[in-house]
Amino acid sequence: MQPIIIAPSILAADFGNLQKEIELINSSAAEWLHIDVMDGVFVPNISFGTPIMAAIAKHSTKILDVHLMIIQPEKYIQTFANLGAHHVTVHYETCNNLPKTLQLIKSLGIKAGVAINPDTAVSVLENFIQEIDIVIIMSVHPGFGGQAFIETTYLKIALLKELIAKQNASTLIQIDGGVTLINAKKIIAAGANVLVAGSSVFNTASPIQTILEFKKV
Ligand code: DX5
Ligand code: ZN
Repeated sequence: MQPIIIAPSILAADFGNLQKEIELINSSAAEWLHIDVMDGVFVPNISFGTPIMAAIAKHSTKILDVHLMIIQPEKYIQTFANLGAHHVTVHYETCNNLPKTLQLIKSLGIKAGVAINPDTAVSVLENFIQEIDIVIIMSVHPGFGGQAFIETTYLKIALLKELIAKQNASTLIQIDGGVTLINAKKIIAAGANVLVAGSSVFNTASPIQTILEFKKV
């Protein structure tokens, strides 16, 4: 079994001390840094855009995992790739030609992810799974950090795992929203490969220690 990948979400960091927060993650056991871009249209919140992405890329030594919660994501994929994204994940709900969008991401030499909302069925990905490097199953309604994990996610993880196995694909299963040290074990047992953790990492006395504890689950 592959070790679990931890992706702290910078959304929960102190933006007044962004460089310090990024350096903290640099010195941690986390493999990826999760970057939530929100447009206030697809989701009811605006997070940040390209200047912050550039600042993160300037200081981070981790794999930059960009999660685009924006409409018409294809307009900005090249921009985020140029700014240093190693992965770009788009939402299934925002793509009218998913194969074309995936192809665009891959043509830039980076990994392609697709996120599905809590109300979107795993089965919508059936015909595309071979082309997807990472699937994010949203375990909260996207837009805000610090929400409670939606319990029906466990079943979706199992269904996605089955779908990936059936097609012999190598897609990673990433879970985003409400992940804590308490539910991590059950999420991993269901079949997850990557855990995004925002408030459960940054809102602790020692994020470094918390990340180590996530790695030990
Ligand atoms: C939610 C974002 C998440 C968020 C997770 O819309 O996509 O990545 O930052 O934050 P927590 O871990 O606090 O739920
Ligand atoms: Zn996210």
